Amino acid sequence: MKHEIVEKNVGLMMVLILVVISFGGLAEITPLFFQDNITKPVEGLKPLNALEIEGRDIYVREGCYTCHSQMIRPFRAETERYGNYSVAGEFVYDHPFQWGSKRTGPDLARVGGRYSDDWHYAHLFNPRDVVPESVMPAYSWMNYQVMDGSNTGTKMQRLRVLGVPYTDEDIAGAKDFVNGKTEMDAVVAYLQQLGTVLKDTR
Ligand code: HEC
Repeated sequence: MKHEIVEKNVGLMMVLILVVISFGGLAEITPLFFQDNITKPVEGLKPLNALEIEGRDIYVREGCYTCHSQMIRPFRAETERYGNYSVAGEFVYDHPFQWGSKRTGPDLARVGGRYSDDWHYAHLFNPRDVVPESVMPAYSWMNYQVMDGSNTGTKMQRLRVLGVPYTDEDIAGAKDFVNGKTEMDAVVAYLQQLGTVLKDTR
């Protein structure tokens, strides 16, 4: 039997398994590259500005994503709490995206504009001051970390290579925009724009 040849030859079996799996994968993945609602930015989506870029990097560095997702699923329990469910076009400029998979704290996909800047400063400084039962760590030291923006332009250049439409002026102005601001300023700026492009839904 021909099948026996495959079953008795591990190398051949592995090759054939790979062929089968790649057909399955291609059939699922390839169409996604050609769907506009997945690859095109939603209307009005702007790339993060220089300060927000730094805020996002601090968000990643501090592992905020280990407790917070940024992805509202299309279920009623989620949309009633957080607002409109997330759509792919909101994330096309995110490299890498911060969807996350763990919710120790609430989802942050639409937290932008929900609280005042002052609230965020107080909350990051010590979450217990505004939410007494909070288990979120305090990030008070961010208030004392002053940035000079010396790398921000380079970061934006790299993102431009990945398709984020920064202009030469954006990149040239990045250092001055960030210089002298604190890490806390950057994180708050980043949080305050999250999910705001789909405004009518909040
Ligand atoms: C150990 C888990 C944990 C980590 C790490 C964490 N958080 Fe939280 N976060 C929480 C919890 C729990 C809450 C809900 C209680 C509260 O509001 O403090 C929360 C609430 C929040 C809220 C308010 C959300 C809302 O809709 O009310 C924001 C904004 C936030 N976190 C931002 C951050 C940022 C930025 C970082 C990283 C610098 C971070 N969190 C790190 C657990 C965490």
